[in-house]
Amino acid sequence: MKNILITGGSGFIGSNFIHYLLSTEKSNLIINLDKLTYAGNPDNLTYIEEYYPNNYKFIHGDICNKKLVSSIFSEFHPEIVINFAAESHVDRSIIGPSDFIQTNIVGTFNLLEVSRKYWHDRKDVLFHHVSTDEVYGSLEETGYFYEDTPYDPRSPYSASKASADHLVMAYFHTYGLPVTISNCSNNYGPFQFPEKLIPLMISNMLEGKSLPIYGKGDNIRDWLFVEDHCVGIWEIINKGKRGETYNIGGENEICNIDIVDILCEKMADLQGENKDFYKKLVIYVKDRPGHDWRYAINMDKIKNELNFQPSVNFEQGITRTIQWYLDNPNWMENIKSGEYRKWIDKNYGDR
Ligand code: NAD
Ligand code: TYD
Repeated sequence: MKNILITGGSGFIGSNFIHYLLSTEKSNLIINLDKLTYAGNPDNLTYIEEYYPNNYKFIHGDICNKKLVSSIFSEFHPEIVINFAAESHVDRSIIGPSDFIQTNIVGTFNLLEVSRKYWHDRKDVLFHHVSTDEVYGSLEETGYFYEDTPYDPRSPYSASKASADHLVMAYFHTYGLPVTISNCSNNYGPFQFPEKLIPLMISNMLEGKSLPIYGKGDNIRDWLFVEDHCVGIWEIINKGKRGETYNIGGENEICNIDIVDILCEKMADLQGENKDFYKKLVIYVKDRPGHDWRYAINMDKIKNELNFQPSVNFEQGITRTIQWYLDNPNWMENIKSGEYRKWIDKNYGDR
């Protein structure tokens, strides 16, 4: 049994990771430290609170709060830290980068400092940092991101993640802190906040709203089902070499307009509508400033060294995702109506 401190566990990937871990390895104790920003949603973990009361503890707080993080180390003695907590949306980072600098850089630094001090020179512990392929910049028609591709971040979001990655590696080289980093491509799946491309389109389709495509819609992302990302992270934690970075991708490059087309067709299929019912909602809008054109991951390292391979193909993953949103209208409704914010204010308003 291990005590695992997860930060940002109430967000999209963090909550999927907690579901994955507790359903596969039931003996660990997970401590979830989450600030519950607009993206942190307690509804993502109601099942966990109910079914794993002895294996799960939620702490409402900020990774930038050193006193709080130190007290969590003193009380729970975690052996693994997995840092999911972040401001994660590129568009928000363009409008206001300040929170990105604070949480993604200062927050990660703070976690590293407490881990280093608390763990001293222990080698049987691990700080795993969850990062993005966006740190590598933007690709043209050809080529891939490798683990040794020079960092070239181009948005405030990716620059803040790149900065955090550098700090994590600096703590390995300077202080010998056992660390690993995963740089993953675009995720999709259940519990994703409806500001990111796929859940935004699903939500707008269900409300009959327009489907805004930035620029020409020819930008390419490499899409990975979130559960596969969770498996990859756990493989790295268990078998990855300390001080190393591992890329995780879906080997599944699709341009934005094709994604939206697929979503429209699948949704029409599942809702018994005519094939073009949702497609007529598509509109082309002003492009995102500094919009990275293409991301593509080479994942030979994680395949060869850790024997990891994504197991959910896009057809299966996207069907499961749309079906999940159709089956969970209240989850979306709570976000849209502000119900979950009210719940947070009621329960945590005084903290
Ligand atoms: P998310 O925005 O859905 O969730 C972020 C979580 O962090 C929320 O629960 C939020 O409340 C919490 N949080 C934010 N600031 C905090 C703070 N100061 N202290 C404590 N908690 C705080 O993000 P996500 O999509 O789940 O991404 C998780 C991680 O994975 C991020 O580090 C992101 O950079 C990385 N990542 C995401 C993707 C993707 O496609 N979504 C791909 C690769 C990597
Ligand atoms: P997003 O989900 O924001 O992820 P990221 O920017 O981190 O890759 O966007 C995915 C792609 O979809 C990106 O090329 C921008 C594009 N996009 C749109 O065309 N319309 C939208 O409304 C959104 C949110 C994104």
